[in-house]
This record gives sequence, structure tokens and C-alpha cells, in this order.
Amino acid sequence: MALVIEGLSKTYPNGVQALKNLSLSIGNHMFGLLGPNGAGKSSLMRTIATLQEPDSGRITLDGIDVVKQKDEVRRVLGYLPQEFGVYPKVSALDLLNHLAVLKGVVHKGERREMVEALLNQTNLWDVRKKALTTFSGGMKQRFGIAQALLANPRLIIVDEPTAGLDPAERNRFLNLLASIGRDVTVVLSTHIVDDVRELCPRMAIIAAGQVLLEGSPNESIVALQGQVWSKQVDDDVELRAIESAYRLISTHLVGGKHEVRVLSADRPAEGFTQVAAGLEDVYFTRLAGQARH
Ligand SMILES: Nc1ncnc2c1ncn2[C@@H]1O[C@H](COP(=O)(O)OP(=O)(O)OP(=O)(O)O)[C@@H](O)[C@H]1O
Ligand SMILES: [Mg+2]
Repeated sequence: MALVIEGLSKTYPNGVQALKNLSLSIGNHMFGLLGPNGAGKSSLMRTIATLQEPDSGRITLDGIDVVKQKDEVRRVLGYLPQEFGVYPKVSALDLLNHLAVLKGVVHKGERREMVEALLNQTNLWDVRKKALTTFSGGMKQRFGIAQALLANPRLIIVDEPTAGLDPAERNRFLNLLASIGRDVTVVLSTHIVDDVRELCPRMAIIAAGQVLLEGSPNESIVALQGQVWSKQVDDDVELRAIESAYRLISTHLVGGKHEVRVLSADRPAEGFTQVAAGLEDVYFTRLAGQARH
């Protein structure tokens, strides 16, 4: 599937411009949409999922006009929203079965097979008869992906699915996503850099409704290699001095001490060590570049 987004803009009635002439090209792979709170990730995903319309711009999915031909898109779409809303007091099995009917899987035998396979795939078989209201956050997210996978979608949109999951559940969820078929396009939004690094061969960093970087995580890391320097900082005075003299990427607390990372072609000063660049350095560097404008 080829998903092409061209010049998408959206201003909400309250005057917030969530998308600013945004363009992206997404192919048959796991595509990571990385951005801070308020970047416009959910706005973009809701627009692709045909739940809201842009003010201007175009989206096509293998030539289908997403804004105009909503029904055609919905037939091939699986969507896991950021807020799944209120969970009814019904069992996972019953709700999944009900949602399958709504998705148009009317043949009873086919539906049962599909629902049972998805409950197994998402590791919810043993709890299938329990009410969704009793599910933990991780179980709810796994149910969310099960419903998104109903009726073999060819485009799957998952909006911040790993937020709030413990490391084991997060791993389970990412593995589940990775196991989804190769001829399916998955768009995953997150503010967790490692989600993208572990899973996505292509990504975009977005902030304030605009694309700051589109490409491969690995290539963008390679492009920063040799330019990232680190130093442990003793006090706030030194921290502020470094901040004003160099291009600060980030500061981390390590065992209660500040560790700064700085972008520089050469050694910034005595005491700095060159360190391997990571995707987080790419992310913070791009966000800082945006903030300077
Ligand atoms: N329905 C709405 N009405 C008005 N403003 C909105 C609406 N939805 C989102 N916004 C605003 O649009 C901007 C982009 O929001 P959006 O939810 O798309 O960002 P996001 O990247 O998904 O953020 P988060 O990581 O917090 O989920 C924000 O400033 C937000 O406050
Ligand atoms: Mg969001």
C-alpha cells in the first residue's frame, strides 16, 4: 500500500493550527511518527482514518482519495485510537465478535475463526470471557490491536499504543506489531524514541504540525556520528555556561549528576568525550532546530 499525504493543513475551530502544509510518503512498512505532545500526531492519524477532514491538502491510499472515498478506506483500515474510550462491561470475546459483525464479517464460521485467531495472537485467549472493565492497561492495548486487526486490514494506524505500558507489556506489544504481515502498512505514533528505533525502517519527526525529518532512523543516526559529545557537569553555573556556548542536545540525570550531550564537529572543550550518536540525539537535535526558528 502506498499512502501519500500532500500539503495537509488543519486549523481547529478554537484557532489552533494542528497541521501545517504537511507532506509524507509511506510505503509497505512500519512507519514511525515521532513527536512531542501537541505535535499533531493524533490529528494526522484521525484524518488518515477518515474521522476528520483537513482544511486543505490531499491523502491517497493506492490511488483512493481518502477524504472523498471514506467507505473504501474504512474497508481496508484498522485503527487503534489514543483514547479507546469507555470499556463496556462485556467480555473481550463478545465485543470482538460484535465489532467483527460491524466490520462486515457476516459469515458465522468465518467470524468465529477470525475472532479466535486474534484472541490467541494477542495472548488474550485465557481471559476472553472476562469483562474488559477488569483488564489492565496492557491487556486493553492488546485488545485494542485485536480489534484493529479484524477483517485483515491493509493499513493499520496505531496512536501512541505503548504509552503507560510496563517494559514487559511494551515488549509484548511491539513484538505483536512486528509480527503483523509484510504486505501491510503500519503507521505508529509515539513520543518514545526507542519504539521507533526498535520497530520502524522509516520514520518522520513532527512538531507543531510540520515534518522536521523524514527518513530511515539508522541513516539519520549515521549522519550525526562523530558529532555528539558528552560531559558530566558539576553545577548549574557550568550547565548554563555550556548551554550558552554550545549546541546542547540534552541533559540527563545519571545517579543524581547532570550529563550533557552537545552537538559539535570538533571537541567542544577539555573534559568532553565523544559518544556514539543515538536516535534520541537525532530527535532532540531536530526539535531544538525547530525551536530556534
Ligand atoms: N478537537 C480539537 N479541538 C481543538 N484543538 C485540538 C483538537 N485536537 C487537538 N487539538 C490541538 O491541536 C494540536 C495538536 O494536537 P494532537 O492531539 O494532534 O497532537 P499529538 O501529537 O497527538 O499530541 P499527544 O502526543 O499529546 O497525543 C494541539 O495543540 C492540540 O491542543
Ligand atoms: Mg496524540
